[in-house]
Amino acid sequence: MSGEPVSRPALPKVGFFDSGIGGLCILRAFQALRPDVPTEYIADSANCPYGNKPADEILRLSDENTRRLLDMGCRVVVVACNTATAAAIDTLRRRYPHVPFVGIEPAIKPAALRSKTGVVGVLATEGTFNGRLYKETKAKFAKDVTVIAVVADEFVTTVEKSAAAIVRGDWPPTGAAGQAVERMVRRRIEPLLNAGADRLVLGCTHFPHLRPFIEKVCDGRAEVIDPAAAVARQIQRVLLQRDWAD
Ligand code: DGL
Repeated sequence: MSGEPVSRPALPKVGFFDSGIGGLCILRAFQALRPDVPTEYIADSANCPYGNKPADEILRLSDENTRRLLDMGCRVVVVACNTATAAAIDTLRRRYPHVPFVGIEPAIKPAALRSKTGVVGVLATEGTFNGRLYKETKAKFAKDVTVIAVVADEFVTTVEKSAAAIVRGDWPPTGAAGQAVERMVRRRIEPLLNAGADRLVLGCTHFPHLRPFIEKVCDGRAEVIDPAAAVARQIQRVLLQRDWAD
């Protein structure tokens, strides 16, 4: 054998999309796990929010985002948006059978399994709650607990309005701006806590950006569940299964 170095094939690029900057939480979780894998990210902020759009429109936008990511050379597509996963992932998998897709859905299963009070709060968009995935997961894993579903569209708007500060790392806000965000969060979270919820599922990728406020309002009364790390591990699993990474 000669001492020729064996060149490894380049790692495949992984593409992420969301209606805006929500999916950055998934991107960051994946980059923490696999800093060696190249990534692309599409924030479709021009069309944000997706949460209250009809499913066929979300599918059209998701298809456009997928094509753009494939044109950029991505080989795996991460639908880093609960709403787009609900409306589009089944059709995308049929349309692009050679592309592995990874989606995200509200983590009701761990919430239901870990709840001691038997009450679980889920924060998500209308589109996510109307989707087949959410209904099926809830019927399968949360039939013995009370699930309180809360649509919090203003959380999405607030995060998008603060996109520049969040991307710069100039977040969370302090002073009057911080107090205003805290009041907004409190209006949605406090009723869940008062109803006995001891697990809160962040079912929209925009919401982890508000986590410092959510944790402050919870003050230890409920565990906040964010599936970003689990999604990052699932992306890695896809790469390993296809032998695209070590
Ligand atoms: N980030 C998206 C999600 O996870 C939705 C936000 C929106 O309404 O556009 O559902």
